[in-house]
Amino acid sequence: MNKLWKGMKLVVASHNPGKVWEINQLIQPYGLDAVSAAELGLEEPEETEATFEGNARLKAVAAAKGSGLPALADDSGLEVECLGGAPGIYSARWAGPGKDFGVAMKKVADEITARHGWAGQAPRANFISVLCLAWPDGDAQIFEGRVFGHLVWPARGGNGFGYDPMFVPDGETRTFGEMEPKEKYAISHRTRAFAAFKAAMLDGIAPTPTNVSGGRDVDAFAAAAASLSTRVEAAAFVARMKDDLVAHGAEWKNATLEGYLDALARELQRAPSNEEPAWRQLAKAMLAASND
Ligand code: IMP
Repeated sequence: MNKLWKGMKLVVASHNPGKVWEINQLIQPYGLDAVSAAELGLEEPEETEATFEGNARLKAVAAAKGSGLPALADDSGLEVECLGGAPGIYSARWAGPGKDFGVAMKKVADEITARHGWAGQAPRANFISVLCLAWPDGDAQIFEGRVFGHLVWPARGGNGFGYDPMFVPDGETRTFGEMEPKEKYAISHRTRAFAAFKAAMLDGIAPTPTNVSGGRDVDAFAAAAASLSTRVEAAAFVARMKDDLVAHGAEWKNATLEGYLDALARELQRAPSNEEPAWRQLAKAMLAASND
């Protein structure tokens, strides 16, 4: 399985600057750096799948393949039990071209009036967030978070966004729209999906590429080389190569300075790629020189 480590760059497969900022807050303490798909000039693919997971996967895989970097995408929405899970993957689309969530909430309320009514038990609902972390080789991991509750009508509160003013999480009497942002964030579906992502991919993140057997982890170095693009990242990569030489020099093909520089010169004479940043090409050549 592919893994993340410090110094790596991660594409956030979204054109929403708020989402990119939020994800950056989460991953920066782990020494990772988020760049948005928009900054890289990647197109946003159409969400053509029938599930949250399918759409998150489609967006993440497209960004990973388009950038050559690991990519994180999310897909989220509201599922109403008595409406068979609607609006579901169509949550954003129910707001129409004007992205008016007053319209979307009214539509949910009208559908409930038509099918279930508001007099009996409050309609059960949940928000769901699905994250997909995809890799340039097509590998992908999925993380899910849900928050359960019920709906109220008319909607209450002006905080949050989307369907927040009509959703009351279990254990609360206020809607998400009436809660402080940090109260919502403490229990939200997105926070829970991120917690699953964090537990699996970030906690215990390797500060330097090593593998479980303690030997050289060439795959980890290859992934690091394939994800860097700046001078600072290249400097961090060179520092890690030095640590690796000290720890695992016996496994290097060219462990003397003379042999290594010869091999590096050979690697750098290969035809350059027009698509890759020069620092990334240098890092790949440095790794190849230690390995070929
Ligand atoms: P997407 O994940 O960006 O495709 O859109 C998901 C849609 O689901 C949003 O436009 C909102 O309508 C709705 N949604 C997702 N998360 C929330 C939330 O935390 N509060 C309210 N609405 C949400």
